[in-house]
Amino acid sequence: MKSIILGTGRYLPSNVVTNHELAQRMDTNHDWIVERTGIHERRYAVPGVDTTASMGTEAAKRALDAAGLTPQDVDLILFATLSPDYYFPGPGVQLQHNLGCRTIGAIDIRNQCSGFVYALSIADQYLRNGAANHVLVVGSELHSAGLDMSTRGRNVSVIFGDGAGAVVLGRTDEPGRGMLSTHLHSQGEHAEELALLGPSTRDWIPEIFQRNDPEDVSYFPRMNGNFVFKHAVVRFAEVIEEALTSNQLSTSDLRLLIPHQANLRIAQFIQQKLGLREDQVYNNIMRYGNTTAASIPIALSEAFDEGRIQKGDLIMMAAFGSGFTWGSALMRW
Ligand code: COA
Repeated sequence: MKSIILGTGRYLPSNVVTNHELAQRMDTNHDWIVERTGIHERRYAVPGVDTTASMGTEAAKRALDAAGLTPQDVDLILFATLSPDYYFPGPGVQLQHNLGCRTIGAIDIRNQCSGFVYALSIADQYLRNGAANHVLVVGSELHSAGLDMSTRGRNVSVIFGDGAGAVVLGRTDEPGRGMLSTHLHSQGEHAEELALLGPSTRDWIPEIFQRNDPEDVSYFPRMNGNFVFKHAVVRFAEVIEEALTSNQLSTSDLRLLIPHQANLRIAQFIQQKLGLREDQVYNNIMRYGNTTAASIPIALSEAFDEGRIQKGDLIMMAAFGSGFTWGSALMRW
C-alpha cells in the first residue's frame, strides 16, 4: 500500500495587490519586481475576514469535497505554517475545531517554505504503516500583516503573499501509483539568512516595547536574498535528482515539477539546469507571490483543476527555504 493524494483545494483572499500598489507604499516599481522575481500581483488577507486558520480551513473543506470525504473521515491533521494566528497553540487545533473533526491528532509543522513537503513525508509514514487511513495536510500563510511595508523592507515585502492550499491523502494498492519517495534535508548553520528573529524567548515583547526603537527591524522577516538564491538553485536541483535517482527515473519521466514558488528566476534556472521543457514546470508565482508553506498545495490544486495532472502522471514536488530546509515528494498520481 502506498499513500496517494485523493483531493486538493485552495483558498486565496479576495484582495489583489499589484506591484503598482506596492510602489505607492515604498520605493519600488513594477519592472524591478517582475524582472527579479516574476511576480505581478499577490493576495493579501482581508482584515477581520481571513486568518491563517480560516484560510487553511476553507482550503481543507475544498480538498475534502474534491476527495468525496467528510471531516469525520480524517484521522490526522498536519498544518504547515510560519505565520500562525497565535504564538501558541498552533493552527492545527483550530482546523480540527473549525472542521468539526473527531478529537484526532493535530500536528503543527514549522519548516517554512519546505513545510508542505515535510508534512507530506510525515503523512506518508502514517498512511503506509496503517496508523491512519486519511490524512489532511494544509499549508497556510498570512504574511501581509507582518511585513515591513516601508522602503527599508522592500527586498522582502514585495515577494510574499497570503493564501492556503490543502490535500487529503489516503492509500492505494494500484501497482505503480502513489508516493514513491520523500527526501528531507536541513542545514541550520544558515538559520539567520532567512528568518524572523523577534519577538522570541531571547527578545520578548516587553523588551521590544521598552526599547521603543523605530529602527528596530528584528520583528520583521530578514533575508539575505543573494545568498538564499545561490543555495536555492543548488539544493532544488540536488533534491530533484536525488528523488529521480532513488526511483531509477529520469527528468523525461516527469509530467510536472511543482517547485515551491520562491521566485520565478529560481524555477527557470532549475528548469534549464535539469533540461526540463516549459510544460513540465508549473509556475503561478506571477499571480500569488511566494506563499511559503501554501505555495505547493495552491499550485498543485490549480494544476489539477487545469487538467495538467492526470491519473498515472509522475509529479515532483520540491521545496527550499528558511532553515535552510529543503526536500522532495515524488508521486505517481
Ligand atoms: N524594489 C526596487 N529595488 C530594490 C528592491 C525593490 N523591491 N529590493 C531591493 N532593491 C534594490 C537594492 O537596494 C539594490 O540596490 P543597490 O544596488 O542600489 O544597492 C538592488 O535593488 C539590487 O539588490 P539585490 O538584493 O542585490 O538584488 P537581487 O538581484 O539579489 O534580487 C531578490 C533580490 C530578493 C529578488 C533576490 O535576491 C532573490 O530572489 N533571492 C531569493 C529570494 C527567495 O527566493 N526567497 C524565498 C526563498 S524561500
